Amino acid sequence: MANVEDACLREWRMDLLENAAGRVLEIGAGTGANIECYTPAVSELVLTEPDVHMRGRLRKKVSRCKAEKTMVTEGSVELINQDDASFDCVVGTLVLCSVRDLEGGLKEIKRVLKPGGRLLFMEHVAAPRGSRRRRWQNWINPVWRRVNSNCHLNRETEQAVVAAGFSIHWVRRESMRKAMPIVRPTIRGIAHNV
Ligand SMILES: C[S@@+](CC[C@H](N)C(=O)[O-])C[C@H]1O[C@@H](n2cnc3c(N)ncnc32)[C@H](O)[C@@H]1O
Repeated sequence: MANVEDACLREWRMDLLENAAGRVLEIGAGTGANIECYTPAVSELVLTEPDVHMRGRLRKKVSRCKAEKTMVTEGSVELINQDDASFDCVVGTLVLCSVRDLEGGLKEIKRVLKPGGRLLFMEHVAAPRGSRRRRWQNWINPVWRRVNSNCHLNRETEQAVVAAGFSIHWVRRESMRKAMPIVRPTIRGIAHNV
């Protein structure tokens, strides 16, 4: 993924996470690709990651974070061990493609966000219905999921976010340069908890 990070992802992460402020929860933080994108406007950052090995690598990067206070914790998005309405912002990048229960995960995100709080998202998503790329995604998806830790090629994530009761504030749809054609369609943006 290094060439894809260089081609577009790093820039997209920086642009998106400029919008993170206050008390922030990042779900599926992985090995910490976003950690250096947070600004001092973040008063407290809670990084969650279910995979123990990734969590170890994440912990090693925490000192690079500009947030006032940062902590790493285990947990999946379907069961967030945090109080209701306790975050100003939730961040998820390249995560919602892999969660077991997308609807349940979005419900949990909504629960922990304050009213008016913001979900910052960046995801690879399904190509438009009826397109040739979408047919390829549908065809390859069962095998892809098995070899890529439940990553779905054909999730309609933007629609799922809206169905969960968020209001999309802005969204960019762009091709992930240098990535395999079946994972190129992406969305990134901000959804409000209304
Ligand atoms: C492709 S990696 C992305 C990591 C990082 N967010 C990034 O932008 O590079 C997918 C991450 O989602 C995490 N993940 C998978 N299922 C999850 C779930 N149900 N809840 C939270 N995180 C999950 C994985 O452990 C992994 O760290």
